[in-house]
Amino acid sequence: MSLQRTLSIIKPDAVKKNVIGQIYQRFEEGGLKIVAAKMKQLSQSEAEGFYAVHKDRPFFSDLVKFMTSGPVMIQVLEGDNAIAKNREIMGATNPKEAEAGTIRADFAESIDANAVHGSDAPETAAVEIAYFFSTVELT
Ligand code: PPS
Repeated sequence: MSLQRTLSIIKPDAVKKNVIGQIYQRFEEGGLKIVAAKMKQLSQSEAEGFYAVHKDRPFFSDLVKFMTSGPVMIQVLEGDNAIAKNREIMGATNPKEAEAGTIRADFAESIDANAVHGSDAPETAAVEIAYFFSTVELT
């Protein structure tokens, strides 16, 4: 067991559906603690910077357009193996392939409007947390 932190984003589709509380409940029931959080309307450059690793993929402009289509809820989750645990709670990227009972199976519509984002490795978690939270916002 290792105590980790991971970056989580509740995407515009799920914020619009008014399910932030239900998603937070999934995190908490899964043993993840919310240690920092903010709601934010991403600008185009903020979304492009966050997803820069995907800039050459065919869906990049659609992804940026979607992520700037409304406010997102951004949080840092902490817990034992938080990165893998959060991805387990989220389910597969494509909600059609997500296991029953996961956030994406229950709240997502499609591979682009897929309710949540979660860091995929310790290195990306560190970069993604620092992208949205300053040291003084993290205790
Ligand atoms: S993963 O899990 O990051 O490896 O998934 P990946 O397939 O590489 O997708 C990366 C992010 O891009 C989003 N995505 C898309 N957006 C718009 N249109 C299409 N077709 C599409 N396919 C994938 C996907 O939701 C991932 O977003 P994040 O926020 O990283 O989960």
